Amino acid sequence: MDRITNPFAPGAGTPPPELAGRDELLESVRVATARVRLGLPTKSVLMVGLRGVGKTVLLDRMRDEAEASSFHTMRIEAPEGRSLPALLAPELRVALLKLSQIEPAKDLAVRALKGLAGFAKALKIKYGDIEVGLDYQPEPGLADNGDLEHDLQALLEAAGQAAKKAETAILIFIDELQYVEESQLASLITSLHRTAQRKLPVALIGAGLPQLRGRMGKAKSYAERLFDFPQIGPLAAPAASVAIEKPIDEQGVGIEADALKLIVQRTHGYPYFLQEWGKHAWDAAEKSPITSDDVNKATTIAIAALDESFFRVRFDRLTPAEKRYLRAMAELGPGPHRSGDIADELNRTVTSLGPIRNQLISKGMIWSPNHGDTAFTVPLFDEFMQRIMPGNDWKE
Ligand SMILES: Nc1ncnc2c1ncn2[C@@H]1O[C@H](COP(=O)(O)OP(=O)(O)OP(=O)(O)O)[C@@H](O)[C@H]1O
Ligand SMILES: [Mg+2]
Repeated sequence: MDRITNPFAPGAGTPPPELAGRDELLESVRVATARVRLGLPTKSVLMVGLRGVGKTVLLDRMRDEAEASSFHTMRIEAPEGRSLPALLAPELRVALLKLSQIEPAKDLAVRALKGLAGFAKALKIKYGDIEVGLDYQPEPGLADNGDLEHDLQALLEAAGQAAKKAETAILIFIDELQYVEESQLASLITSLHRTAQRKLPVALIGAGLPQLRGRMGKAKSYAERLFDFPQIGPLAAPAASVAIEKPIDEQGVGIEADALKLIVQRTHGYPYFLQEWGKHAWDAAEKSPITSDDVNKATTIAIAALDESFFRVRFDRLTPAEKRYLRAMAELGPGPHRSGDIADELNRTVTSLGPIRNQLISKGMIWSPNHGDTAFTVPLFDEFMQRIMPGNDWKE
C-alpha cells in the first residue's frame, strides 16, 4: 500500500490513529476530575503499566480533554535525576498566572505566586536545579520554610484556594513518576492529602512503571487510600483488532480476518507492537485487502525495527554486568523469576548480585511484583535478549 498514507504511529508518546480499548478508563477520569472541581471526595489516579502499553498517550489525551473542559493543567515528565520542586515550579507559575487573569480569583492567585517565590527561594539551597521566574516578592511565612514537605503543602493549598475561587481545578499530570525520589514523592503525597482534606480542587493524574505502586506505599503508608492505581496492560483481542482494523478501514483499505488475527497473536495485544506490525503489514501489502502473507513478511521487519528502536534504546543504557543479569533472566523465559534462580544461572549468590539488581530497578528495566521475584518492565524483552546475545558466551 502507499507508504505516504500509512496511518500507523509507532513511537514513544505518539498518538495512535485509534486509541482502542481505553474508553472506560477515560470515562472514569472524566468523572473523577469533575468531582475534584466540585470539591467532592475523589482519589487521584496513577496509571501503572509496562513499557509501550500507552500510558503517555493516555495522559496526553486526558490532559487535552481537561483543557477543553476549562481545567487548569500542568504537564510534567519526571526524568531521572531532576528534582520534583524544580519540575513543578515553572509549570505551577504558568497555571497561577493564568488563574490570576480570572477576576474573582486574582487576589488568591497573586498570593499563591508570592508563595511560589518564597518556595523557590527557600528550597534553592537544597534543590539547586530550581529555576523559575518570580513575578512577586515572597510573603514572609508562606511556603518559605525550606522544608519541601511543609512548603509544598502550603503552596498547593494556596494554589487550590485560587482555583476554587475560579471554579476550576488544578490537575497535575506527571509521567514517569517512578523516577521521583522517595522523600519528594512523600512530600507530594502529603500535599495532596492536605488539599483533599480541605476539599480544595487539586488532583494528580500520574503514570509510571509497575514499581510505582510499591514506591508510593513505601513513601507514605496511606497512599493506597489516596490513589487509584488502574493497571494499563495489553489490549484484549477485540480492542487490539479495532486498533488495527479501524485505521485501515478509514483509508478505504481492507484486511483479511486471518491476517488480523495473526497480528493480534504476534503482538500479544501490546499497543506499541500493534503500531509496529500495523505499519509494516501496510507497507508489505501490494494491494487491498492485507493478507496473512503480507503479515508474515511484515513480522520479520517489525521485529527488526523493534530491535533497533524500542528494545535497543533500553539495551544501550546497560552496563555489561546488567546485560548479563538480564540475559540470565531471559534464559529462564518471560518471568517473573525467583532471584535465586537467576543467581543460579550466573553461578553467583543472590547477595552478590543485589547491587546489579538494584541498579536495574532504578533504571526501570525490572521490577519486583512480589518479594524475591523479578520481572521485566519491557514486554517480550526476554526474546529480545536471546536474539541480541545468542549462544552461551554471556555465561563467562
Ligand atoms: N490504546 C491504544 N491503541 C492503539 N495504539 C496505542 C494505544 N495506546 C498506545 N498506543 C501506541 O503505542 C505506542 C506506545 O504508547 P506510549 O508511548 O504512550 O506508551 P507508554 O506506556 O508511555 O510507554 P513507555 O513506558 O515506554 O513510556 C505508541 O506508538 C502509541 O501510538
Ligand atoms: Mg511513556
